[in-house]
Amino acid sequence: MKYFLDSAKLDEIECAYSTFGIDGVTTNPRHIQASGKPFLAAIDGIANWAAKKSLADWNAFPISVEINPHIEKADEMVAEGKRIAAICPNFVIKVPCTADGVTASRLLEVEGVRTNLTLVFSSSQAIAAGRNNALFVSPFVGWKEANGEDAAAYIREIAEIYQIHGYDTEIICAAVRTGKQIVDCAAAGAHIITAGLQVYLDSFKHPYTRDGLELFRDAWDNTAK
Ligand code: E4P
Repeated sequence: MKYFLDSAKLDEIECAYSTFGIDGVTTNPRHIQASGKPFLAAIDGIANWAAKKSLADWNAFPISVEINPHIEKADEMVAEGKRIAAICPNFVIKVPCTADGVTASRLLEVEGVRTNLTLVFSSSQAIAAGRNNALFVSPFVGWKEANGEDAAAYIREIAEIYQIHGYDTEIICAAVRTGKQIVDCAAAGAHIITAGLQVYLDSFKHPYTRDGLELFRDAWDNTAK
């Protein structure tokens, strides 16, 4: 299962890539806002970072960039998606999983622009992505669980449906907030997790690891004399 970083901050991307390794980046308008840069400067910065790492291709290191959320018509989404995709070969175009977004994703994929259907909250939305050969589908896990719903169950259902029908679309479990959700999504058959830097760093921590290190250091000191 791949790990993507859900961030538009270059320091976080560099940290995640160089410490535990990430396979791609996902952004959304809130992440761009948190980067403190205007939209084009923020996505250019991430594109340049990938080029410097010799990762200049969506296949090597996909960077999901969301279109302007004010755009509601499929033809305008297609035009915006093509404009953004032309900036950098890493860019995968995120479109909302509305009827127009599904149409835009289909048209963009036919023209060779890779897409990520986002804001997915049901298996029926995920089927639309799979049928259209979208590169990615992004079911939101954290938002769903914050609403009191069982996210693992719908990730498992999407993974089963994709397997039964031979859909190649990869499932990105999005808005993952905890180590438990990472495990639930992995066990449910997700291809990819996307989460913030701190979620990953926290997921590597365990109090027994820390306590065990202290015990082993004491023992080491007693035998190294
Ligand atoms: C995923 O691709 C989204 O960018 C993300 O997970 C949305 O959730 P958040 O902004 O609440 O983390």
